[in-house]
Amino acid sequence: MGSVTDAIPLASGDEDCYYQDPARFFARLRESRPVAPLRTPDRGRAWIITRHADLRAALADPRMAKDVHRWPGGGRSRPSEEAGLHAHMLNSDPPDHTRLRRLVQKELTPRRAARLRPRAEVIAAGLLDDMAAARGDVVDLIGAYARPLPITVLCELLGIPAADRRWISAAVIDYGKREESRRVTRELAAYFSELIAARRGAPGDDPLSALIRVHDNAGDADGLSGTELLSTVFQLVMAGFDTTANLIASGALALLTHPEQLARLREEPSLLPAAVEELLRFTSPVNYATDRFTTDDVPVGDVVIPAGQWVLNAITSANRDPAQFPDPDRLDLGRDASGHVAFGYGAHYCLGAPLARMEAGAAIGGLLARFPGVSLAVPPEELRWRRVSLMNGLESLPVRLA
Ligand code: HEM
Repeated sequence: MGSVTDAIPLASGDEDCYYQDPARFFARLRESRPVAPLRTPDRGRAWIITRHADLRAALADPRMAKDVHRWPGGGRSRPSEEAGLHAHMLNSDPPDHTRLRRLVQKELTPRRAARLRPRAEVIAAGLLDDMAAARGDVVDLIGAYARPLPITVLCELLGIPAADRRWISAAVIDYGKREESRRVTRELAAYFSELIAARRGAPGDDPLSALIRVHDNAGDADGLSGTELLSTVFQLVMAGFDTTANLIASGALALLTHPEQLARLREEPSLLPAAVEELLRFTSPVNYATDRFTTDDVPVGDVVIPAGQWVLNAITSANRDPAQFPDPDRLDLGRDASGHVAFGYGAHYCLGAPLARMEAGAAIGGLLARFPGVSLAVPPEELRWRRVSLMNGLESLPVRLA
C-alpha cells in the first residue's frame, strides 16, 4: 500500500505531456498503476484513479466525500471559502447536497434546455455572421464562438445583463489560474451579491429569481442560506461555461483532424446527437472530477486508499479505457459512447448535461452548416492546451472559414 507522502513525482518532460496530452499521460498510469499517489504539478499530492470501472465505483462511494469540513486534517484553505462562495452542492455531502441539488434540479430540467434550443441557434447564427466578416482570414474559434455562445446562453438563463458577459467570461477563465484565483473570487463574490440584490427588487421567470424566492420564503433552516444562494449562483456560472466552451472547441478540433468522421456527419446530420456523445467521450472537457477525500480506508481496485487522503478521478483516462471502449483512441461518431463519464457519475452527476448537449449540438451543427469548408489554420501539434489540470481546454483554435 502506498501513501501520498511517497507520491510518484512527474519525470522531467512529463509535465508537458500532463497538460498537452492528458489522455496519453494517463494511459501509462492506467496500465502500470491504475490507483496511484501522484505529485501533480498544480493540485499537489493526490491519489489518482484512472480506470473506468474504478472511477465509477469511487464516484458512487459515500466514503469519497466532498465537504472539507469533515476532513480530519481540517481541509485545505480555499479562496472561495473566504469569499463565501464555497457552500454549493459540489462541495457538499448529504443531507446538504441532496437539498441543494434538488433546488437547482427543478430549474435545470431537460425540458428547459430543449426550450432554449431555438434561442441558442439564433445566438450561434449571430456569432457566425460576425465571423463571416473575417472569411478568408484566420479566426480564433474559441474567442469568436466557443466561449461567447455558452456564456450568452447561461447569462440569458440566469438573467445576467448582456454588458457583463465579457467580464464574467474573462473572470471565469482567470479563476483557473492559481495566482489569479484569490482576486477573481473576491470580484465574482461582489458581482453576484449585487446581482442577487438587484434581482430581488425585480424578479423574473428565471432560476436565479426562483432560488432567491426559496431563500427569502423558507429561511435558513430548510431552504437556502444567504451563503448557499450566493455560492450556488457562482457554481452554476463556473460549472456551465468553460466546460461547454471546451466541448465546442475540442469537439470542433476533433472533427477537423478526422476528416472522414467530419464527412460522415455532413452526409448524415441525424448523427449529431450521437456525435456529441462521442465528442464528450473523446475530448473529456473536464479532466478530473472535482477533489474528493476519503473518510475511511477505501478499497479501489487492488489498492486500499487510507482514510483522510485526497483523491482525483481522471475522467480523461476513464473515457479512453480500452476495457470499456474498444479501440478507445479512435474517434468513431457511430460508436455507442454511452457509459462515458464526461459528466461524472453518481450523486454529483452533472445537472447541466441536457443544456451542455443542446448547446454543443447547436454550436457544431451551426458551424458546419454555415462554413462547410472550415479548416484548421495551423498544424495540430502547434496548438497549446491551457496549463490548468481540472479543465481540458485549448488556449486558442485558429481556423480558416470557407
Ligand atoms: C460540456 C459541458 C459540461 C461538462 C463536461 C460538465 C462536467 C461536469 C462534471 C464532470 C461534474 C461532476 C463533478 C464531480 O463529480 O466532481 C459536473 C457537475 C455539475 N455540473 Fe456540469 N458539466 C458541463 C456543463 C454544465 C452546465 C451547462 C451546467 C449548468 C449550467 C452544469 C452544472 C453542473 C452542476 C450544478 C454540477 C454539480 C452537481 C452536483 O454536485 O450534484 N454543468 N459537471
